Amino acid sequence: MARLQHQSFNLHRFPFASLPFQGSIVEQSIVLQALWNRMTRSNDHRMVGVRIRRARVSDLPVLVRHRHEMWMEAGTKAQKQRWDRDKGKYAPWARSQFRAGRFLGWVAETDNGVLAGSGCLWLRLGHRVAKSRTVQPYLLSMYTEKGFRGRGIASAIVESAIKWSKKKNFRTIFLHATTQGRRVYAKCGFKRTGEMRLDLTPR
Ligand SMILES: CC(C)(COP(=O)(O)OP(=O)(O)OC[C@H]1O[C@@H](n2cnc3c(N)ncnc32)[C@H](O)[C@@H]1OP(=O)(O)O)[C@@H](O)C(=O)NCCC(=O)NCCS
Repeated sequence: MARLQHQSFNLHRFPFASLPFQGSIVEQSIVLQALWNRMTRSNDHRMVGVRIRRARVSDLPVLVRHRHEMWMEAGTKAQKQRWDRDKGKYAPWARSQFRAGRFLGWVAETDNGVLAGSGCLWLRLGHRVAKSRTVQPYLLSMYTEKGFRGRGIASAIVESAIKWSKKKNFRTIFLHATTQGRRVYAKCGFKRTGEMRLDLTPR
């Protein structure tokens, strides 16, 4: 094994021979890893074998399941009740928003095609300012499958949403965080605000 690792490996035998590096298998795998990380926009070594990509309409069933899991695991009693009442409406709503270009998502996909986590951005209409309405990106439905937690998946999804929003010249991203989610968002630069809420549903 040690011999194999230090064996010089000439890339000229391979179709990507024009890559400007040579060296041992270890050196080459480090460079390939860095290239792969750049392509998948993550520089976290814990993300090896997982790439972040934009969600497709065909991923919606998984996005809906992740939202369900999120509420079941991290929702308050009132949030669980609300989800229970409204969950049938979520998929058609998300699909229509998706098609209208107001809903997008990112999924973390493993090399085996498992969707290990996801997060969505809803371009919701904000307050009316002068004659036009502002659009506010709102991050929602962040969920990482239990077996994949602590590997930077949620952080990479949030970073993708931030990057996308910056590119589109949005100035703020909003979200409501669960206790578990707070650390992820804080790490990505989100600040807590003083929003308050009164629940008017009958108890
Ligand atoms: C919150 C959640 C999405 C995090 O997913 P993840 O892929 O494990 O997150 P990351 O690996 O990117 O973690 C980012 C940081 O948050 C911290 N963190 C993650 N989960 C945490 C938890 N349960 N408690 C405390 N801190 C946590 C980690 O320490 C990590 O910091 P580090 O990278 O410096 O170690 C996941 O735990 C989850 O799906 N929870 C249930 C649903 C939920 O609460 N979603 C958030 C809705 S707002």
